[in-house]
Amino acid sequence: MLEKLDQIERAALTALEAASDTAALEAWRVAHLGRSAPLMTVLGDLGRLSKEERPAIGKRGNAVKRRLEEAYAAKAERLRQAELERAMRAGALDVTLPGRPVARGRLHPATLGLRDIYTIFADMGFQIYRSREVETDAYNFELLNMPPHHPARDNWDTFYTTNPNVILRTHTSPGQIHAMRQFCPEPIRVILPGMCYRYEQITARADIQFYQVEGLAVGHRVTFTDLKGTLSGFARRLFGQQVRTRFRADHFPFTEPSAEMDVECFVCGGKGCPVCKQTGWLEILGCGMVHPTVLRNGGYDPTVFSGFAFGMGPQRITMLKHRIEDIRYFFQNDMRFLEQF
Ligand code: PHE
Repeated sequence: MLEKLDQIERAALTALEAASDTAALEAWRVAHLGRSAPLMTVLGDLGRLSKEERPAIGKRGNAVKRRLEEAYAAKAERLRQAELERAMRAGALDVTLPGRPVARGRLHPATLGLRDIYTIFADMGFQIYRSREVETDAYNFELLNMPPHHPARDNWDTFYTTNPNVILRTHTSPGQIHAMRQFCPEPIRVILPGMCYRYEQITARADIQFYQVEGLAVGHRVTFTDLKGTLSGFARRLFGQQVRTRFRADHFPFTEPSAEMDVECFVCGGKGCPVCKQTGWLEILGCGMVHPTVLRNGGYDPTVFSGFAFGMGPQRITMLKHRIEDIRYFFQNDMRFLEQF
C-alpha cells in the first residue's frame, strides 16, 4: 500500500510538471486531487484496512495529499505569473517613442481682441456689465433720446421680431440705461461688451452681426477731459505709447457733445497708406458726454451728475491690427483663418 502511495505521488508530480497552462492545470487538479482521484480512493478506503496498517497508511496518504496540494498551489502561481508576463509583453509600450501631438484649441480672434480691451479698462477701474441682446424699442432708441420717427434711427437698420417693440439691439448703448437704472444713484464705471445686429447689406466692412464694446462713466464731476484722458490712455495701451489720437466733432442723439476718436495710423505712422486711405488716421470709436435726457432716463439728475460714454467695434480694431481684409472671416469658421491667431 505504501508503495502504491509512492507511485501515486510520483505519477501526479510528473503529470503536474507537464501542465503548461491554466486549463491543463485544472484538468490535473480534477484527475489527482478530485473526488475520484486514486489518492482519494486510498484515503476513502482507509476504514477497510486492518487496525495495524491504518495509522501508517493514513499518515503517508495525508502527507502525499499535502505535498500535491502544495505543488499545485506553487504551479498555479507560476502559471499566473507567466501568463501575466505574456500579456504585458503583448501590450508592450515603448515609453521612449515621441508622443503624438494633440491638436490644441485656441481662442477666437474676436475673443482675443475683446480680452485685450477688458484688461486695459479693468486696469482703469471699469467693471464688465452684461446686457441683453434682445431689446425693446424703448431701450434701443427712445430712452436714448430717439423718439419714434427720429431721423437718426436710420443709422441703425434694425431686425424686428413679430412684435414691433421687440428687436435685436443695433448697438450696446441700451445697456447704458440698464446699468444706470441698476446702479442709480451710485457712480458708475463699466464697459458693456456684446453682440449687436444690423439689418444691412453684408460687405467686407459690415456684417449683420458684430461685437461692440460700450463704455459708461457717471459721477459728480465727470468731464470731457476725463473722456479724452481715458480714451487716449486706452489707445496708447492698445497700440503703443507713442500713438497719437485726435477727437473730431460728430453727432449722436444720446451724447452731447459727441465725437469720434481717431488714432494715428500704426501701419504708416501717419504718413498715409492704403490701410488709412492716405489720411494718416484710423477711426476707432464714437463717444461723447451722456446727454442730460439719457441721464434722466437712467434715473440720474443731470444738474448733479454727468458722464461720458463711448462705443467701439472690437473686430474692426482687430482687423486693423492684423490687416484682416474682410470682417466676414470672423464667423465663417475657416480653420485656415482661425489657426493664425
Ligand atoms: N452706439 C453708437 C454706435 O453704435 C456708438 C456710441 C456709443 C457713440 C456711446 C457715443 C456713445 O455707433
